[in-house]
Amino acid sequence: MAHARITGTGAAVPEKVLTNADLEKLVDTTDEWITTRTGIKERRVASAGEFTSTFATAAAEKALTMAGVSADELDLIVVATVTPDFPFPSTACLVQKNLNAKKAAAFDISAACSGFLFAISIVDNFIKSGSVTKALVIGAETLTRVTDWQDRNSCVLFGDGAGAVILEATNEKAGVLSTHIHSDGTYWELLHQPACGSRNPAEQRVLDERLTFIKMQGNEVFKLAVRAMEEAANEALAANGLSVADIDLFISHQANRRIIDAIGKRLGLAPEQVYINLERYGNTSAASIPIALDEANRAGKVKEGDLVLLDSFGGGLTWASALVRW
Ligand code: UT7
Repeated sequence: MAHARITGTGAAVPEKVLTNADLEKLVDTTDEWITTRTGIKERRVASAGEFTSTFATAAAEKALTMAGVSADELDLIVVATVTPDFPFPSTACLVQKNLNAKKAAAFDISAACSGFLFAISIVDNFIKSGSVTKALVIGAETLTRVTDWQDRNSCVLFGDGAGAVILEATNEKAGVLSTHIHSDGTYWELLHQPACGSRNPAEQRVLDERLTFIKMQGNEVFKLAVRAMEEAANEALAANGLSVADIDLFISHQANRRIIDAIGKRLGLAPEQVYINLERYGNTSAASIPIALDEANRAGKVKEGDLVLLDSFGGGLTWASALVRW
């Protein structure tokens, strides 16, 4: 059976930076509160004329270049996003057009901050089944377009950007060793965007009630996130007969420094095993893991043969892990 190997990574973020000091002018907050409660110092914000597909395409181009794969070789393009350019067509179709990836099938998936790992799981299974040889998987968001800049509980958290990987079939026992994906819809209200779907279609009331913006019960989400990501990490290790000491690099969804520290402590990870970049990007939902993975890869922090554990949690609720032999 073929394995899915990551042969290229790429990331793209907006140029515009929004610092904690900038946020102090928008809402009743302080750099000190944001830094100590979240670890975030700044985030990137899309400018007019920049969309989710803008960053998705730029990240994809970098990943293709690294892999030495041309767009017309791609069989499949999957974009994980909750902030697509349009409800339809999919952002994946827009990326396909931008890249001129003519033979690829393209679709989006929605699993919030776990979207990238859900997409990796889907594509891994396509590759294992033999129906796909070369695929592009992207996590891309412009969360700042659905951020309520009057809500200090959430607006300090989010940022924009995209990360991408090229997955290629290989007969070596390398690449994606396992994926585990989970959901619990009973908690859907803890983190959601009330409008822009069929429940609250566009009308003045929706704007007046600020329903187009993300609603989050942060405290509840925090506790569930720590528990679920710890479980998903242990599940991945157990399925492969490995232990925490075998992990060369642990990259979790970048939502809150305290969440990552808590998981690291529960799992018994050493600080040098954990990659964190949320101080510069905030929470970019489905984009956070592939942006971090690309940064770590380009910085030489993952070498051939290394074991990389990816771990995520997000709205839905959804959570997932992927264990990758680099
Ligand atoms: O991406 C997927 C999932 N998302 C997450 O994983 C996010 C998970 N949640 C979190 O990261 C944290 O819960 C937050 C960062 C959102 C909030 O941190 P917290 O330590 O849970 O704070 P809290 O909500 O319990 O609020 C503590 C206090 C409150 O004041 P009172 O009621 O104690 O007087 C808030 O009103 O902090 C206040 N507060 C703020 N103060 C200054 C909330 N936001 C701010 C702010 N600046 N931006």
